[in-house]
Amino acid sequence: MTSFILPKFGEWQGEQRPLFLAPMSGVTDLPFRLLAKECGADFTITEFTNSTALTRDAAMSWRKMETCDDELPFIPQIFGGVTEDMAKAAGLLEDSADIIDLNFGCPAPKVTKICAGAALMGEPQNLVSMCEEVVNRVKIPVTAKMRLGTGPDSFNAKEICQDLEQVGVQRLCVHGRTLKQRYSGVADWEYISQVVDSVEVPVIANGDVVDSSSATACLEKTHASGLMIGRGAIGRPSVFGEIKVGLGWMAEDELPWIKSFEGNWNSLDDVEKQFATRRWCWNRYIELARQTTGLNIKSMRGHAVSFTKGLPNAKHIRSIMHGKTSREEFAAATSEYLESY
Ligand SMILES: Cc1cc2nc3c(=O)[nH]c(=O)nc-3n(C[C@H](O)[C@H](O)[C@H](O)COP(=O)(O)O)c2cc1C
Repeated sequence: MTSFILPKFGEWQGEQRPLFLAPMSGVTDLPFRLLAKECGADFTITEFTNSTALTRDAAMSWRKMETCDDELPFIPQIFGGVTEDMAKAAGLLEDSADIIDLNFGCPAPKVTKICAGAALMGEPQNLVSMCEEVVNRVKIPVTAKMRLGTGPDSFNAKEICQDLEQVGVQRLCVHGRTLKQRYSGVADWEYISQVVDSVEVPVIANGDVVDSSSATACLEKTHASGLMIGRGAIGRPSVFGEIKVGLGWMAEDELPWIKSFEGNWNSLDDVEKQFATRRWCWNRYIELARQTTGLNIKSMRGHAVSFTKGLPNAKHIRSIMHGKTSREEFAAATSEYLESY
């Protein structure tokens, strides 16, 4: 095992466990992943990428696999329904990646119709042999992310995880919903705790962790070896540091947006703190984008909507942002709004 795969932790007694930024298509681009790390995430994963497209050298798919020296570990996530393409794509990524993550959680019809993503949980033997093939093809660790199963009467993540451990998958992540549920209902942390208890490799719990109290509740219930946060981090990468502060894992004045704040942070009201936090995050996102991928208008639009969501006058600023066609103007208009309060 490399140092990027920590051993399985035992019962949780309040001590620090790693926080993962969940892979999210259209969200977790390279500058956002770097930002999440600066905000306190311990691990980040790329959005999922079609393995067959990678083997065919599709430029769009390879762009999603972009990384830089500062991203350590680099964990690309791939999906697909063809075992040979998954193994081949993993081989192509091996030189740049530290870990390869395999997606068995995506419920989107365009993915499940090629029997990839969460649909493979309905064909557990194929899923396991696909993982075995990938593990045998590369020298770096292979990890897998999945759901509980395909539907309410077919939870099989426990059995699948036991088999994956046997074929050499080194870390597992379980999102506590079924394929059928997509994002509805509540994540079943109780079933995740059964998965945690049934294997020796570390299991990361995922689903509905959005702040320090849900992080505490999830760790108390699952004793998982880490937590993965998705929607709670969209527009709010600061959630990682906030959780660490809330759980006593780091001091509040170590948070980068507080460290760099000129003035008395404690004299700010809640809305002022929100603006100051998001302003730091947005400006840093833009800096990191300039240093890595360059400013991308589509990514910026998505993040700007998320970074301003719920703030006063956010609707008004959105119409101003939509009028900006140049990337620099767009970045500046969003910064100006976040500086306005
Ligand atoms: C916009 C969006 C895109 C997602 N894309 C991916 C993906 O590319 N790969 C993946 O494994 N899961 C993906 N997911 C699922 C998340 O990684 C995570 O499992 C799910 O959101 C549950 O966690 P949460 O309750 O913390 O959001 C995506 C979720 C969202 C909301």
